Amino acid sequence: MRIDIITVLPELIQSPFEASILKRAVEKGIVEVHMHDLRRYGLNKYNQVDDYQYGGGAGMVMMIEPIDKMITELSADRKYDEIIYMTPDGETLNQGIANQLSLKENIIILCGHYKGVDQRVRDLYVTKEISIGDYVLSGGELGAAVLCDAVIRLIPNVISDETSALTDSFQDGLLAPPVYTRPAEYKGAKVPEILLSGNLPKIDEWREEQAFKRTKERRPDLLTDD
Ligand code: ADE
Repeated sequence: MRIDIITVLPELIQSPFEASILKRAVEKGIVEVHMHDLRRYGLNKYNQVDDYQYGGGAGMVMMIEPIDKMITELSADRKYDEIIYMTPDGETLNQGIANQLSLKENIIILCGHYKGVDQRVRDLYVTKEISIGDYVLSGGELGAAVLCDAVIRLIPNVISDETSALTDSFQDGLLAPPVYTRPAEYKGAKVPEILLSGNLPKIDEWREEQAFKRTKERRPDLLTDD
């Protein structure tokens, strides 16, 4: 998979790809991530990328021209499956969206700033708009990092123990059950007996019950059909 990130703050989104699972995915050649500084196509001697909004009102809007030029440059070399715009009024990111995106070959992620991008960018180029939650960030970069992490860890061979990604919370529509490691008892707090029994079918059954219980208590909305 190749991910091209268009941003006015490339330095803000560099570090998530320099540690742990994302770093290994890049090193193994499973994913290629390229940052593109939008100011490269900024206008005039100030490399301007934003301007006042028509109709008045506080806050600047990112102009169409630098974004058009950047997307045109990238699209000359390959076809993109999705051009994603990070925005608080997009579709809220969930595991289903992450699963779908993990199957794509080439994606562009456009990070918004200020009041966002000129609506014509969204109408003409963007194929998917994603929010990471109902709150407003200073820009789309941290949202893009969250999206990349959620997607990349699902690509085969990124996580060495593949079943580990498949048993994550949300992957089967439920929250994950509680987990324990050594010691079996710590200051009187014991690991549930069943996990020490070696009875794998019973352990699976217990985990399923616990996942259901936890989901019912914490996220009953996940259990309702829609
Ligand atoms: N940009 C600003 N706020 C955002 C959010 N909640 N999700 C994605 N991008 C954003």
